[in-house]
Amino acid sequence: MKRNKPLQQVYELYTPEDFKVWDTLFNRQMQYLHQYGSGLYLDSVKRIGFNALEIPDIKKTSERLYCATGWQVTVAPELVPQKSFFTFLSQKVFPVTCWLRTMAELDYLEEPDMFHDVFGHLPLLMDDAYAGFMEGIGKLAIKWIDTPEAISLLGRIYWFTIEFGLLKEKGTPKIFGAGIVSSLGETINSISNSIAKNEFDLNTMIATDYRTDILQDRYFVMESTEQLYKSLPAIEGALYNVIEWVSL
Ligand SMILES: [Fe+2]
Repeated sequence: MKRNKPLQQVYELYTPEDFKVWDTLFNRQMQYLHQYGSGLYLDSVKRIGFNALEIPDIKKTSERLYCATGWQVTVAPELVPQKSFFTFLSQKVFPVTCWLRTMAELDYLEEPDMFHDVFGHLPLLMDDAYAGFMEGIGKLAIKWIDTPEAISLLGRIYWFTIEFGLLKEKGTPKIFGAGIVSSLGETINSISNSIAKNEFDLNTMIATDYRTDILQDRYFVMESTEQLYKSLPAIEGALYNVIEWVSL
């Protein structure tokens, strides 16, 4: 599908359909997230100032994030290449698209749009530990950017935490990852009792492959965002092991 992918957000160019898409997706996800979403995510949505009626203004959102954790938001027309993406993270910048899917595409999209990038990823960057983990992953990735095995390892960790992680709150796994928060299919899948919920364990994550084209068949459950942040030295240790193994 041919679509306009702006290099910067021009708010006046959003159409009534864009507002309808944002409103529909926001309300539909919130119906579930009020019950099954992590309290941390829900609080963060309030703190960052998102609501159903307004498509977020990227500049204002960036200013709010900067005041909270020193992170900023930049607009990219589409998925940014891996090296640029990790460089952005290492500099406490999160790249987002500013275009929205159409009403006809509510449930299926070939690439991330603004609803995934903004609604899914930005709120939790208001949390210090989460933001520190993201920066740490970016810095580790840049250090090992020319070692594909290391980037693949980091990709798995990012996938199972930032995109598809669950967060334990009062003993119950709650929706947390951007890929679940922004997707009705993953939301319903993740609350099913028949899907495996593994405890946060780096070695298992590193040894587990994932698919991007199907609903997840397992999720990892974190104890807290502090647990994520504190795992950075162990992730670095795992990267050294990979390098040693590759160079044997
Ligand atoms: Fe994402």
